[in-house]
Amino acid sequence: MDWNPQQYLKFGGQRLRPAHDLLARVTGTAPQHIVDLGCGTGTVTAVLRARWPDAHIVGVDNSKPMLQRAQAELPDVSWEFANLAEWTPSGPADLLVSNAALHWLDNHPTLFPGLLSHLRPGGVLAVQMPAQHGAPSHQIGYELAESARWRGRLSGLVRRQPILDPDEYFALLRPLVSSLDLWFTEYIQVLTGDNPVAEFTKGSFVGAWLSALPSDEAREFESDYRQQVAAAYPVSGDGVTLFPFRRFFLVAQR
Ligand SMILES: C[S@@+](CC[C@H](N)C(=O)[O-])C[C@H]1O[C@@H](n2cnc3c(N)ncnc32)[C@H](O)[C@@H]1O
Repeated sequence: MDWNPQQYLKFGGQRLRPAHDLLARVTGTAPQHIVDLGCGTGTVTAVLRARWPDAHIVGVDNSKPMLQRAQAELPDVSWEFANLAEWTPSGPADLLVSNAALHWLDNHPTLFPGLLSHLRPGGVLAVQMPAQHGAPSHQIGYELAESARWRGRLSGLVRRQPILDPDEYFALLRPLVSSLDLWFTEYIQVLTGDNPVAEFTKGSFVGAWLSALPSDEAREFESDYRQQVAAAYPVSGDGVTLFPFRRFFLVAQR
């Protein structure tokens, strides 16, 4: 997928708030070695840097445009171009943070225990992932991408169940950690502008699909998707669009 930092950051405030909520639950630790997994443009990495100014911080991502943006904003961090499915750290970490990235990877029953194994005893894994796959914003996309018109091109990219259920994470991780905190939050995002829900998802999964299509077909797909999404998320009388967005959080201490 080609990530577009500009499109992603159109909703930078809404995308950063869950990271603050996640990090508010990371307490009583003074990490020296921190890794931001799927750091993207480095917005969350900057929050980590501000909170732990003396820590050694590494940002890992496999998108060059996102990493370039991060590097320009925050030189005081080590940036690593790597696929998280294969990544291993140079040494044990005290804190692994991942905001809105691990749902892009498969095989969580292997991935999550693997991440825990990179922590020192007492170290913390803090993860936030969208849990929006049941909502119209995503269901409309899945249905369209798997329709007769698009399935030949896009069905391989559709990930209808990108994360496990909470009880599955609990069963998987509880035997490996000393504490485990799991929760959902649904943010009622108040957006403005033309079809802001379609603009929001264009910064993530819909953008991934559009970049996989030739430009004329991308325009056709986007137009169909925008039309259905606009109907599902109408503009209210005062010109705003409410976009409820559900997210899943996990904080595990080894
Ligand atoms: C939605 S962005 C989140 C970026 C950042 N964590 C934030 O909260 O602003 C998801 C990021 O995960 C990265 N990503 C997705 N799959 C990845 C993989 N297999 N390996 C490394 N990075 C990955 C993408 O390149 C993208 O920058």
